Amino acid sequence: MRRILAIVVAAIFVLGLASISFADGLEKCDKCHKGDKAPALMIEKAKIATAADLMKALKEGPKSSMHKLLTDDDINGAAAALQLK
Ligand code: HEC
Repeated sequence: MRRILAIVVAAIFVLGLASISFADGLEKCDKCHKGDKAPALMIEKAKIATAADLMKALKEGPKSSMHKLLTDDDINGAAAALQLK
C-alpha cells in the first residue's frame, strides 16, 4: 500500500515538474509576446514548424536582434512548450 502511494506521489511530482517547465518555456517570450503577438501566433505567421526552424528564426532571422538575450535553452524550452518537434 505504501509503495503504491509512493509511486502515485512520485508520478504527480514528475507531472507537476513537467508542467512547470513548460510554463517556464514561454515565460521568457511572454514579456514581449502578448495578445495577438503570442508566440504560438508568431510561429504560425512565420511558418515555423520545427524546433530547428525556431532556433534559426530567432538566431539568424530578421528579428534576431530582438532575441539575442535568449539562450539556446530558452529557445528549446519554448519549442517544447509550443510542441514543436
Ligand atoms: C525582448 C523582447 C522579445 C522577447 C523576449 C522575445 N521576442 Fe520574439 N519578437 C520580438 C519582436 C519585437 C518581434 C517582431 C514582432 C513583429 O514582427 O510584429 C519578434 C518576433 C518573433 C517571431 C517572428 C520571427 C520572424 O522571423 O518573423 C517569433 C517566431 C518569435 N518572436 C518568437 C519568440 C519566442 C519563441 C520567444 C521566447 C523564447 C521570443 N520570441 C522572445 C520580441 C521579443
